[in-house]
Amino acid sequence: MRPLKSTLDRMIDRLTAQRVALGWAAGCVAGTHGMVMEVGLGKGRTYDHLRTLFPARDILVFDMWLRVPTALVPDEDRLFLGDFRDTLPKAAERFGRSVRLVHADVGSAREEDEDGISGWVGGLIEPFLAPGALVLSDRRVGLSGWEEVEVPGTEAWPYFGWRVGPLSLLPPP
Ligand SMILES: C[S@@+](CC[C@H](N)C(=O)[O-])C[C@H]1O[C@@H](n2cnc3c(N)ncnc32)[C@H](O)[C@@H]1O
Repeated sequence: MRPLKSTLDRMIDRLTAQRVALGWAAGCVAGTHGMVMEVGLGKGRTYDHLRTLFPARDILVFDMWLRVPTALVPDEDRLFLGDFRDTLPKAAERFGRSVRLVHADVGSAREEDEDGISGWVGGLIEPFLAPGALVLSDRRVGLSGWEEVEVPGTEAWPYFGWRVGPLSLLPPP
């Protein structure tokens, strides 16, 4: 039987959920310090939105490929191309404990084709997190010990959030 929602409906649901979730996250981390991380650059849509929401913050960006128009190419020293399993551990050596918000947009059309990413990417993200950091994702990437938080406005399209550790409002040393 044909699904009730068209492909266009589902795309609108997804993009709407992402915009609402990212806007909500920006409010959650307002007044704190720390970098932002985009795990899954893809076509650069949510990266561009993060740039708009966080004009003053550094954004670390990860993907296997660079497939964005020139205007959306991140700065060279903030872009990490290659498999997350190689690039995340390497970047964490330099940027550990300095990220306030992670957006892990790592899914594809079929979860079965994702190499089990929801089971391993959280462990690679955790070393980046400043105390009280927020992680948002299109997949259940949370680890035990991460406090799951409800992401508003995502009823039509699932999106997941976690607060990791106590919130620190202290300025960086
Ligand atoms: C849903 S798309 C990201 C969409 C993007 N946020 C946007 O708004 O256009 C997921 C991305 O994760 C990347 N990806 C998935 N598994 C990966 C892996 N193991 N290593 C590196 N990149 C990966 C894919 O190349 C893809 O670009």
